[in-house]
Amino acid sequence: MSDTESAIAVIRAMAAAMEENRQWLTRLDSEIGDGDHGTNMHRGFQAALERLDGAEPSSAADALKAVSMALISKVGGAAGPLYGTAFLRASTTLSGKENVSAEETAEALEAALAGVKQRGKAQAGDKTMVDALEPAVAAAKEAASSGKGVAEVFRAAAEAAAEGAEATVPLAARRGRASYLGQRAAGHKDPGAASTHLLLDAAARALESS
Ligand SMILES: Nc1ncnc2c1ncn2[C@@H]1O[C@H](COP(=O)(O)OP(=O)(O)O)[C@@H](O)[C@H]1O
Ligand SMILES: [Mg+2]
Repeated sequence: MSDTESAIAVIRAMAAAMEENRQWLTRLDSEIGDGDHGTNMHRGFQAALERLDGAEPSSAADALKAVSMALISKVGGAAGPLYGTAFLRASTTLSGKENVSAEETAEALEAALAGVKQRGKAQAGDKTMVDALEPAVAAAKEAASSGKGVAEVFRAAAEAAAEGAEATVPLAARRGRASYLGQRAAGHKDPGAASTHLLLDAAARALESS
């Protein structure tokens, strides 16, 4: 598969994961937010698929940019613009690159994290998607520097994101809607951290099976 085809396969797998987990993500968000995260992510990724079908991306960067535009324009709420920024930064990092390496993949994830943190001002421990994405980036960089391939980089990232998402359970939230609940958010997994894990896991699975 070309890089463009791989990126499209990854995005399709992400969209499928958002469809399969729509209700679960919405349930998590109804516990500490307003119960729309699953619907938001599903709508955003359906819009991303429509864009991809309409535009025939010419590179992985192009495909990621289409996702970004769909998420920014079609998803209200906090997560749409934040994930939109993440995909846009990843796209910019990969722009002009062919045969995207494991290192470049890790760099793209790192840029995505930087974008989320810059836009949302959350730090690790605030009970947001950053709690999944930050350890994922560290694991991705570690995997890339130890000679692993792109699929393994995503697998390492997904595993770290799963742990990071789990670690949000006992936390009180300091960003986003859940922060209105103060200590009452403790005992619930953060929906955005959960979706970050699902997206990285979908990426890993798409690349492992290609
Ligand atoms: N400032 C922020 N920085 C990073 N992530 C955030 C921030 N605010 C919210 N989030 C993430 O967005 C998720 C909620 O997304 P969603 O329900 O789609 O939007 P909304 O909170 O507007 O209803 C949270 O679980 C959290 O992970
Ligand atoms: Mg919500």
